[in-house]
Amino acid sequence: MCGIVGYIGNRNACEVLVEGLKRLEYRGYDSAGVALFADSHIDVIKTPGKVSRLESMTSGVQAARIGIGHTRWATHGEPNTVNAHPHTDCTGNFAIIHNGIIENYSSLKTKLTLLGHSFRSQTDTEVLAHLIEEFYSKTRSTEMAVRLALKEVNGTFGIVVMSSSEPDVLIAARRGSPLLIGLGDSENLIASDASALISHTRNVLYLHDNEIAIITRDNVSLKNLDDEAIEREAEHLTFDLEQIEKGGFDHFMLKEINEQPETIKNALRGRLIDADGISKMGGLRDVEDKITNARRFVILACGTSWHAALVGKYILEQCANIPVEVDYASEFRYRNPVLMDGDVVWVMSQSGETLDTLAALREAKVKGAPVYGIVNVVGSTIARETDAGVYIHAGPEIGVASTKAFTSQLAVLNLINLLVSRRRRTISAEQGRAIVEEMERLPEKIEQILGQRDEIEAIAEEFKDSRNFLYLGRGVNFPVALEGALKLKEISYIHAEGYPAAEMKHGPIALIDENMPAVFVAPGDSTYDKILSNIQEVRARKGNVIVISNEADGRLKDLAKYIVQIPKTIDILSPILSVIPLQLLSYYIAVKRGCNVDQPRNLAKSVTVE
Ligand code: G6P
Repeated sequence: MCGIVGYIGNRNACEVLVEGLKRLEYRGYDSAGVALFADSHIDVIKTPGKVSRLESMTSGVQAARIGIGHTRWATHGEPNTVNAHPHTDCTGNFAIIHNGIIENYSSLKTKLTLLGHSFRSQTDTEVLAHLIEEFYSKTRSTEMAVRLALKEVNGTFGIVVMSSSEPDVLIAARRGSPLLIGLGDSENLIASDASALISHTRNVLYLHDNEIAIITRDNVSLKNLDDEAIEREAEHLTFDLEQIEKGGFDHFMLKEINEQPETIKNALRGRLIDADGISKMGGLRDVEDKITNARRFVILACGTSWHAALVGKYILEQCANIPVEVDYASEFRYRNPVLMDGDVVWVMSQSGETLDTLAALREAKVKGAPVYGIVNVVGSTIARETDAGVYIHAGPEIGVASTKAFTSQLAVLNLINLLVSRRRRTISAEQGRAIVEEMERLPEKIEQILGQRDEIEAIAEEFKDSRNFLYLGRGVNFPVALEGALKLKEISYIHAEGYPAAEMKHGPIALIDENMPAVFVAPGDSTYDKILSNIQEVRARKGNVIVISNEADGRLKDLAKYIVQIPKTIDILSPILSVIPLQLLSYYIAVKRGCNVDQPRNLAKSVTVE
């Protein structure tokens, strides 16, 4: 997501920062900026778009020997110049860069506004600059002001602060967002990611949660937020640049699959109200009545997003008792779709740029329907053109085959379901609380599934040479079967079909023999007994059965060749868990077949053509 670089030493700071920011480009971002100290003041230079644009804007800047730089992936507020980092306080004495999310930023902003601070941006980060300014006016110490400010903050942060009144020090701190300090010879660097440092030094100090680093040209000292000193040995980095960019994983897709405990937390952060068993989403606040009173939802999407929409249909019809129609955006735009009074249209897109989805959005608006977005990329065209919406906060997805965005879309659909179901009184507060509780447990359950990667890799080894695969599921897990089949064909080029398990007997059963693996998504929900009969039907024809289930009863063990055990959860959340073994299975099969996992042939991450 966002990237951080800081420099203090004897060289041209601007050059070092821009070079570091270029190394962080692979993480995805939408604006970039630097703050540099020279001639007794801090200059901030920032721009939406690429680091190369920032580079041309800073080409003549040479005097600074200390500075901070940032690439921003928007979370609060559009990706424009004002919202880009660094941010400054009222006086311009402090500049700050920040990764993470300040959850209580809006109450802090209200407090600070009452104290006379004036805000320029829509970001949560700017609140920190003013909070530090406020504490500095009382303590006259940047370090102390940062420490006191951070004690007021809920949420996650990796920050670096510089000040024109103490221009020979950088203060960094972290909680939840990584930071490491590169130790040089009469110079020190700080970054969110080793790739920005490695061309300067391989000796690094990792900052831990709730720690502050005080970094000067010749010294680095670490403290906790209670001002107690911390001793830590430096580490020597041995890996290369490419390994770092992929977070030590072999491919971006595997990295993104493994990020899911974190991305689900990000999708839910600050949006669940435990006590009332309901959710809140800032982007929908003004349209809650319209959503609650809708007569029908129409969800438009393409590809993996369309599969997520299908899961949404099951969930919303089951809990909120609202009719939901799901349509391929490309079909919707070329039909004469019927939209009626009381319809609410949702468009769902990871990139926010898929042309068919955008055209469907425009068509729905022409027909007078309110159109809301469920989007990952902040400030993307779809996010801008919808009347309101929710961001899924999955961070940049680089692997072409969507993984973490899918589960984050499901998490957000569940948030919407919770909001609508509670407001329509189709579920009680107690039922709402039970859903909230289960949602909060998802990250740890995903971790458990990721821990079974070796077993899943062994299954991949056995079936990597198969020419066809069948994926079967029922109810809310039927779309998961579709998604499993899509993942496999996208990256391994094996033909795979997803089907509702009971429909199998109306066609695909003719294909089953000992060469055909059939993957069943069969958690122990209301359709479990029925799906066991479908598994019997495949076994009777010598098909190889792989089952993803949270049941381990004897019947299943007798029938399945392999069972991937997933933790139990409530039915409406089970797709968030059951899809993960399918992502891993296709990943390992594709790797074993020597395919280009991150950039499969003929596919694009963002399809901006018809
Ligand atoms: C492309 C991608 C898919 C994605 C689909 C929809 O086909 O390869 O992974 O699901 O577009 O993209 P969107 O960005 O609108 O979700």
